Amino acid sequence: MTDAAAALKATEFPFQSFRRALRHWYRDHGRHLPWRAAEDPYRVWISEIMLQQTTVTAVVPYFERFLKRFPDLTTLAAADESEVLRLWEGLGYYSRARNIHKTARVLVAQHEAQFPRDLAALQMLPGIGRYTAGAIASFAFGLRAPILEANTLRLYARLIGYRDDPRTTIGQRRLWEFAEQVLPARDIGPFNQALMDLGATVCTPERPACETCPVRTCCVAYSLNLQDEIPQRARRPEITLVTEYAVAVSCGQQYLLRKRQHGERWAGLWDFVRFSPPESHEDSTDESWMSTEAARRTGLALKSLNPLLTFKHSVTRYQITLRCFHATVVKAKRVSTDSEVWVSPEQFGDLPLSNPARKIARHLQQMKATPVRVAESLRDSIPVTE
Ligand code: ADE
Repeated sequence: MTDAAAALKATEFPFQSFRRALRHWYRDHGRHLPWRAAEDPYRVWISEIMLQQTTVTAVVPYFERFLKRFPDLTTLAAADESEVLRLWEGLGYYSRARNIHKTARVLVAQHEAQFPRDLAALQMLPGIGRYTAGAIASFAFGLRAPILEANTLRLYARLIGYRDDPRTTIGQRRLWEFAEQVLPARDIGPFNQALMDLGATVCTPERPACETCPVRTCCVAYSLNLQDEIPQRARRPEITLVTEYAVAVSCGQQYLLRKRQHGERWAGLWDFVRFSPPESHEDSTDESWMSTEAARRTGLALKSLNPLLTFKHSVTRYQITLRCFHATVVKAKRVSTDSEVWVSPEQFGDLPLSNPARKIARHLQQMKATPVRVAESLRDSIPVTE
């Protein structure tokens, strides 16, 4: 018998007792989350997009700040993308913020600032997939729509004893099918939220609390003691170590920031001048090429480059060591455009920056407050060769 065949058939699952036990549990143990206060599609949507690959604890302050500034679709649609990105800063996955902004504009322009009450129409909107559409439709409108995300994937896979990879097309089809079958006749929204809460707080990835689980008698993984093997783990991508460079170019009290362009990492956010070493220098400890590169990339005559700080950060499967330097321009040439601005450290907070750029910005703000660190950082300066 294959693993898939060993999984429980839908007809054998005790749906009635499962639903009853889950409802009882949710009444006492459901989480009180700020986006659940009202059945408002706007709040559900924003929270769901924020919650993709981020924890509830991390999202709550972002959600509250975002809702304070953009309480509804109309305010959001009228804002600059830059301001939306600023409030998203730190959550990562910035295409989500750009899609939120696009969707708000589509809904205001074409749907009288209302969400469609229809699963297929919701999925036509930028950044809204099957799960988010199901969450909006069921949580806000009470429509009969299934949900499947990280918490419910784990829960369903254990409940039915699905031992194959749940991320394959076949695995997804089976779990979506279960998500649909498990829905009760009424109160779909709270039921879906209960499923999600049970997955998040009891049926956890590591050491699930099976002994206190209200539906353990329905669970194949529990009955076979397979909760540690189900769901099958995703293979972790191999981490690649790379070194990149950032240069904070200053002229007087101002620093050069560049807007990252469409198609680049962090599109729409601002950054210091940043680049990878040419292939010929990837493994070299000699950094003298860097000053020429910084001058070439900025088109500016630069004075010597001074080390500022070095830190590591991760982007997808890359662990990046970012070597940051400071350079001053020889001749003043400060022209701000749509994609390049000269700003003082006091203005860094007005612009959305990538996480690493924010770290450099904070460092520069601190240096301004305690200038002695500038002198310290001048020690190993690299002369610029133009
Ligand atoms: N994870 C994803 N969506 C969620 C939600 N609405 N509530 C709690 N956790 C979640």
